[in-house]
Amino acid sequence: MAKKYSNYISMKESRRIIKYNLKQMKYYEKLKRRKLDQSEYTTVMQDENNLIEIDNLETYFFTDTGTVKSVNGVSFNIPKNKVVGVVGESGCGKSVTSLSIMQLVQAPQGQVVGGQIRFNSSDLGYDEEGRKLAYDIVKTPTKQMYNIRGKDITMIFQEPMTSLNPVFTIGFQLDEVSFLRNPSISKEEAKEYSIEMLKKVGISMPEHCYKRYPHELSGGMRQRVMIAMALAGDPKLIIADEPTTALDVTIQAQILELLRELQKSQGCSIMLITHDLGVIAEMADEVVVMYAGRIIERGTVQEIFRNPLHPYTVGLQKSKPLIGSSAKEPLYSIPGQVPNPINLPNHCYFRNRCTRCTEKCGGEYPQEYKVSDTHSVACYLYEE
Ligand SMILES: Nc1ncnc2c1ncn2[C@@H]1O[C@H](COP(=O)(O)OP(=O)(O)OP(=O)(O)O)[C@@H](O)[C@H]1O
Ligand code: SF4
Ligand SMILES: [Mg+2]
Repeated sequence: MAKKYSNYISMKESRRIIKYNLKQMKYYEKLKRRKLDQSEYTTVMQDENNLIEIDNLETYFFTDTGTVKSVNGVSFNIPKNKVVGVVGESGCGKSVTSLSIMQLVQAPQGQVVGGQIRFNSSDLGYDEEGRKLAYDIVKTPTKQMYNIRGKDITMIFQEPMTSLNPVFTIGFQLDEVSFLRNPSISKEEAKEYSIEMLKKVGISMPEHCYKRYPHELSGGMRQRVMIAMALAGDPKLIIADEPTTALDVTIQAQILELLRELQKSQGCSIMLITHDLGVIAEMADEVVVMYAGRIIERGTVQEIFRNPLHPYTVGLQKSKPLIGSSAKEPLYSIPGQVPNPINLPNHCYFRNRCTRCTEKCGGEYPQEYKVSDTHSVACYLYEE
């Protein structure tokens, strides 16, 4: 039986996995409950121009069928006032990376088991050597995270209906964020600020919208409200996870333009997660391409679009529909499937789908090779 079905797990194996998972989950949950001194969850940035530095991040899910390495040693930076686009196939770990930054990974199954997420905050002061202190979000206690979440770092999700509370008015929910930004303001001041934010995101009758419930608004309006909420705290970083996938193309263009304008005028950074390469080309300054929990290519938007190097990035570009291409020609799709995240191979994860693989590709997982100061790729073809 075990030989016939590769996914078959015997009772003995299943018991072993459950025992292992319980031990791991208990260990990481206990770590979170520890009382920490500020020096234990603070660090210094490697480059002061970065807002976020993700360093070798590992986020795993301890499931009944084994450990899913959703984020498997990811490192990238989000510079101040820049838009960083994160692209990759479904299930490659984009959302889990963003949830790790927010400390919102579904616990106890989901745990950040390694790495650092440095956040350049202005709240912490300086160390004895005069260096500005930064949070290491991986170690930061939950209580401290309340000061960061929703204020310094906010999130816009794909489906606003799941993030807006259906039983409270838009005004009530927006006022909550206004109070978070400045707890000393009066109710009237919060209302005034909320209405100003609704105006800012292009809602034509903000006073009317303020009194409405989420279900009384259209999808585009709800997404604008989400953006207003994300901006109300005057954040330093907005994480936009597929912010326009649920909207039609005209509204999508409006919302993206609005996000870009507000990012420039408010001077914040955006981590933009999307499947849509067109959106990335329009919005991002830098691009990170993920595959099966790892980064396989990174560069400026020009480098990734004009000179894609990794066979996966090339395949992604080829599978984009183009105006003017023959209607008779079928749209290109990358053959094969992403490897099982529970039993990842030791060699390049793209090998079973790659048309350019060489003998070397059967060796250990390729390191990132630099092709310019800003462009690097994890593929043996660029070893020289
Ligand atoms: N709560 C969970 N329990 C178990 N596994 C999970 C959980 N959440 C995510 N995963 C796994 O982590 C991996 C990465 O998921 P993630 O949601 O980050 O993908 P994604 O890149 O955002 O995909 P999509 O583009 O479809 O949103 C997937 O293999 C997924 O099955
Ligand atoms: S390392 Fe080899 S298998 Fe992997 S993408 Fe490059 S050429 Fe293809
Ligand atoms: Mg996702």
